[in-house]
Amino acid sequence: MEKKRILSGVQPTGSLHLGNWFGAIRNWVTLQEDYETFVCVVDLHAITTPHNPKALAHETLSTAALYISCGMDPQKCSIFIQSHIQFHSELCWLLNCVTPLNWLERMIQFKEKALKQGDNVSVGLLDYPILMAADILLYDADLVPVGEDQKQHLELARDIAQQRINARFGKEGSSVLKIPKPLISKEGARIMSLTDGSKKMSKSDPNENSRISLLDSPELITKKIKKAKTDSFMGLEFDNSDRPEADNLLTIYSLLSDQGKESALEECAGMGWGKFKPLLIDATVSALGPIQEKYNELMDDQTELKSVLQEGRNKAEKVSQKTVERVREALGLIKID
Ligand code: TYM
Repeated sequence: MEKKRILSGVQPTGSLHLGNWFGAIRNWVTLQEDYETFVCVVDLHAITTPHNPKALAHETLSTAALYISCGMDPQKCSIFIQSHIQFHSELCWLLNCVTPLNWLERMIQFKEKALKQGDNVSVGLLDYPILMAADILLYDADLVPVGEDQKQHLELARDIAQQRINARFGKEGSSVLKIPKPLISKEGARIMSLTDGSKKMSKSDPNENSRISLLDSPELITKKIKKAKTDSFMGLEFDNSDRPEADNLLTIYSLLSDQGKESALEECAGMGWGKFKPLLIDATVSALGPIQEKYNELMDDQTELKSVLQEGRNKAEKVSQKTVERVREALGLIKID
């Protein structure tokens, strides 16, 4: 039986954090065992807000290196850079032409980011979800493993594929594009900020202490966790809406220590913050240590990394070219051999 396919990606903007790991990459690592897996570094998305070209080039490679360091195995999946496949931009354009503007204007992430940028909002930022739809639809992905914040973008991709392409251009009920489903894990799909348990952990938060980056040193991890917001209750617990920080830090601990929620709760329910924080620091430092070691190897000599990306590009190109040709034909763009 043919394997089902997954596609996902992360933006190379700033260093990846625990939210990216738990919400996305860690799930990819499990899924690559059973699915045909494509993961890309979405550098074209990273230029929708003002960026520094030198930093982008470095962060693109660094993000790919982190995929591998976190356990993505180039023997089992294809890892590539989005801008290396021209079909992403082409399908984005084709989808642009059939998507109503007001579908984009109601995207929550667009509204939030646009608000932050004042007058400097690019057309690309508005178009961001269509490029993401193109990323997904190009690979006929069955499932898209993402964190909770991407749910609305996934719904948009489904609506574009179903209502604007298949319903209008599919011949005799056959579909042009496969309709993907989001795959949002029960745990870790929404990791919150260390400095405010009601806000998502985010790369764009100006306060560095709000997130733990996968490349933070043990000293920095210790400092950030020591500073993390707590409350005046005794004991740790989940799901108490008056205690978002307790829920978040205990969730992070349960994921880092790989023991599941029940067992983490059993271990920590009776602890005060003074006892819990050192435990969380130790768990974080030991989980990130091996990732950082592998990362440094890959970045010190980039030959292996670049060859993985080249191979990923070759596989991605073949699959995505076929889809674009299908869409071109459905839309009536003439082909002359
Ligand atoms: P990005 O780069 O913002 O985030 C990458 C992945 O990390 C997840 N994530 C989180 N999960 C849990 N808690 C958090 N605090 C947290 N912050 C981020 C995101 O949900 C995402 O899965 N638009 C996407 C990138 C993208 C993409 C795609 C994803 C472009 N094309 C195609 C999937 C398929 C984004 O900005 O992710």
